[in-house]
Amino acid sequence: MNRRFDPVDRLSGEVTPPADKSISHRAALVGAMCDEPLTVRNFLDAADTRSTLDAVLALGAGVDEREGELVIRGVGLHGAFEPTGGTLDVGNAGTLMRVLPGWLAGQPSGRWRLDGDESIRRRPVGRVVEPLRSMGAQVEAEGDRLPPLTVRGRRLEGAGHTLQVASAQVKSCLVFAGMLASGQTRVSEPAPSRDHTERMLARARAPIERDGLTVRVAATDELELDEVVVPGDPSSAAFLVAAACVVPGSRIVVRDVGLNWTRTGFLRIAERMGAVIVGELEAAPSAWDGGPPDAAGGDRGGGAEPSSDVEPAGDLDVRASPLEGTTVAPEEVPLAIDELPLVALLGCFAEGETVVLGAEELRVKESDRIAGVVEGLRGLGADIEATADGFAVRGGEGLRGGSFDARGDHRMAMLGAVAGLASREGVEVRGMNAVEVSYPGFEADLKGLLEG
Ligand code: S3P
Repeated sequence: MNRRFDPVDRLSGEVTPPADKSISHRAALVGAMCDEPLTVRNFLDAADTRSTLDAVLALGAGVDEREGELVIRGVGLHGAFEPTGGTLDVGNAGTLMRVLPGWLAGQPSGRWRLDGDESIRRRPVGRVVEPLRSMGAQVEAEGDRLPPLTVRGRRLEGAGHTLQVASAQVKSCLVFAGMLASGQTRVSEPAPSRDHTERMLARARAPIERDGLTVRVAATDELELDEVVVPGDPSSAAFLVAAACVVPGSRIVVRDVGLNWTRTGFLRIAERMGAVIVGELEAAPSAWDGGPPDAAGGDRGGGAEPSSDVEPAGDLDVRASPLEGTTVAPEEVPLAIDELPLVALLGCFAEGETVVLGAEELRVKESDRIAGVVEGLRGLGADIEATADGFAVRGGEGLRGGSFDARGDHRMAMLGAVAGLASREGVEVRGMNAVEVSYPGFEADLKGLLEG
């Protein structure tokens, strides 16, 4: 589906972004692991998270959907069923493909095959296969590297993992496996990545704790969680924020956005470039450091309710303003990983050079986002080039416009659309339907801001 996005005068008004995709995936999976029902408020209704609901249904969980609310009736930590058809279809959901095997690998028995669409089949899974095997898991993948992935349930042993690349998907997979493994499991990251799994499990009274860049988890039999409230997705909101930054005269308010520090790297980068964004950004390190329950499953002192799980959320007030180039350092990359294409877009409108370093991971997202951003924006008139580990943009001239290929990637489709609004001649986005993966209401929300 092709869509044209013509230049607009300004964006104004209020918008509420869709629910957070990462937290929705985790809520469905953790709900499936619980013995008692879990109510999830504001679960994301999009293709990726529907894949996760289908998967948990196939694993034996119940899912009751009511307006804006889901009740997941889990099978317990050790009770995943074998699906009748044999294969779990993850669709386009990389998070499901990489995180779910951690839970399945530690089941007392059973066999599961995970497969997905054409893009999933190009996404590396060796990063979970290898460490899971070191815990005794029986996991197979194409050439040990690519989906489909087959997992057989068996007894796991706790292990220490030192990740080469900061990845919340890999960390979450190993933490799930760690809850089913004997002894203790440790996961150390080279830099912080999103911590939604840790927060959710801490609140579910899992024996999980963090020490700097290391997460430790021990075996447990039961999770206790009765409600998750999903905030707005900062990654989806980022496209609206970026649009307001680059369309002159804009001023928008984005309501109820998740502001967990591990997700707001793009907002910090944009502010450094001169963007005017007012909002209560969570300070690092996050409240999760308040301390989860101890490893014996005890309370966290004084009988206080755990607060460490809280996913902070708030409103952002964004105004268009002059921008200047910046350099994004490698340690900032995991905290803005899905929004880095937008840094390139801002770079086109910023004075001077914008450089992103240490972002090789972009090559293995839903599409090769280094190639997509560089070729796509260059086709619209940008002065941009790919580097070994990212890209460099010389900005100031804005964008002429033209045709932009979404490459089947939801975030690239939204990038093309925002580029069109800020361009001189408009942009035709090829493959706009990709937005269904994370933000089905994207075009309607943009339209609302044009009328706002
Ligand atoms: C995600 C983690 C990130 C991110 C992806 C969602 C998650 O991937 O790019 O869109 O929900 O854990 P990596 O963990 O591979 O960096």
